[in-house]
Amino acid sequence: MANTKSLKTIFSITVVNLILSFGSAKSSTFYENLSPKSLRLKKEKLCHLHFFFHDIVSGPNPTAIRVADSPSTNSSSTLFGYIAMIDDPLTMGPEPESKVVEKAQGIYGSASQHELGLLMVLNFVFTEGKYNGSTLSLLGRNAVFFSIREMSIIGGSRAFRFAREYAQAKTHTFDLKTGNVVVDYNVYVLHY
Ligand SMILES: *[C@@H]1O[C@H](CO)[C@@H](O)[C@H](O)[C@H]1NC(C)=O
Ligand SMILES: *[C@@H]1O[C@H](CO)[C@@H](O)[C@H](O)[C@H]1NC(C)=O
Repeated sequence: MANTKSLKTIFSITVVNLILSFGSAKSSTFYENLSPKSLRLKKEKLCHLHFFFHDIVSGPNPTAIRVADSPSTNSSSTLFGYIAMIDDPLTMGPEPESKVVEKAQGIYGSASQHELGLLMVLNFVFTEGKYNGSTLSLLGRNAVFFSIREMSIIGGSRAFRFAREYAQAKTHTFDLKTGNVVVDYNVYVLHY
């Protein structure tokens, strides 16, 4: 009886030591390899999004406001140095009263001295449907006088974790009087 008991005790101590040493070995690093299954990542999906981007620069409620420029910006033919902060509505159709499904929040700035080329740094913030609360991040060069401009989708959140791929922008209307622009966006995203 006594022998079995002490064997049991030795066994338990050994098990405890093993667990402890395993635990300490694990905590000696701050990184690990994971299987995609552990984050419940299954099949990668391709999603196509289509919406209209309304950049409203004038009137009583502009959605794009100039936040910076340099003394030479106004004399530059490409407004080099101009920077705007935007919270632009993204709608299903091209009309201003069309249903808003997302916002484009971020910054664009004139980054080219020789032709109009904008640096775009934006988050598409979804406010409707199954992607409500998710975001996609866009970074790219927008040479606005070209018919189709392609920019990168560099990531996303929630439904768009691990997202990547591209966006194509095409000017729908440009109002010379107000400066307001409506842009047709097609976005292709790979995500899980
Ligand atoms: C450039 O022009 C805008 C208005 O057209 C003005 O608000 C701004 O102050 C000017 N910037 C500089 C640096 O002069
Ligand atoms: C989108 O999500 C927000 C925050 O969770 C919620 O308040 C809003 O009602 C949702 N909108 C739709 C259309 O589901």
